[in-house]
Amino acid sequence: MRTSASGKKFPQPAVYALDGLIPVIDPSSFVHPSAVLIGDVIIGPDCYIGPGACLRGDFGRLSIGKGSNIQDNCVIHTDPGWDTLIEENGHIGHSAVLHCCFVRRNALVGIGAVVMDRAEVGEAAIVGAKSFVKADFKVPPRSLVMGSPARVVRELSDADIQRKTQGTLEYQHLTLRCHASMEAVEALKALEADRPRLPPFQHIGKD
Ligand SMILES: CC(C)(COP(=O)(O)OP(=O)(O)OC[C@H]1O[C@@H](n2cnc3c(N)ncnc32)[C@H](O)[C@@H]1OP(=O)(O)O)[C@@H](O)C(=O)NCCC(=O)NCCS
Repeated sequence: MRTSASGKKFPQPAVYALDGLIPVIDPSSFVHPSAVLIGDVIIGPDCYIGPGACLRGDFGRLSIGKGSNIQDNCVIHTDPGWDTLIEENGHIGHSAVLHCCFVRRNALVGIGAVVMDRAEVGEAAIVGAKSFVKADFKVPPRSLVMGSPARVVRELSDADIQRKTQGTLEYQHLTLRCHASMEAVEALKALEADRPRLPPFQHIGKD
């Protein structure tokens, strides 16, 4: 159990050293305590790593760039001698599986998608939910791919990329909210009168 800067009590994530390599977590990032990080895992600044995410750096290095989010139940792994790299502002949707691949700057991998060995998701590209990106496939920058196997459907517009960027900002904001107020508590036994709503999204100062 650790106490955050805001005085909230919060369990540590499950972090394991392997062969002398200890996962690195930039202190500005938030890693949920039910995430598992093993070995050669490097999490840069301002990242969000969600509940149940498994980052298993036991065969090669896993690097998560500044401002990225790895949502609940994602699995990230690689083959021996290879890295899995997510560059700055990567957005990895719930339950996606990234295996031995590259996700370039500001790209999004949709919910439940699988990105296979040596594949590359180009800068500001989007992989549709539930897609299968086959080994060695290169998703062109600023393109939408979807399907199984994933194929290029269209080029992304500026509005598409703006929507993606907004979603990533919301996760960067969530990192700040988690640091500020997430706390291990006991559930209430009954609904309060006038239960408040979560605050609306506000951009609070990260670029
Ligand atoms: C692909 C995506 C970006 C939608 O793109 P779009 O161009 O707006 O597509 P539309 O919703 O207008 O759908 C166009 C067609 O593609 C189909 N389609 C949409 N998403 C699809 C997907 N992931 N896989 C296969 N087909 C899909 C639609 O059914 C529709 O088919 P139709 O023309 O036969 O009716 C969106 O569906 C998606 O998968 N986003 C990923 C979001 C995500 O996972 N975020 C992470 C969590 S925050």
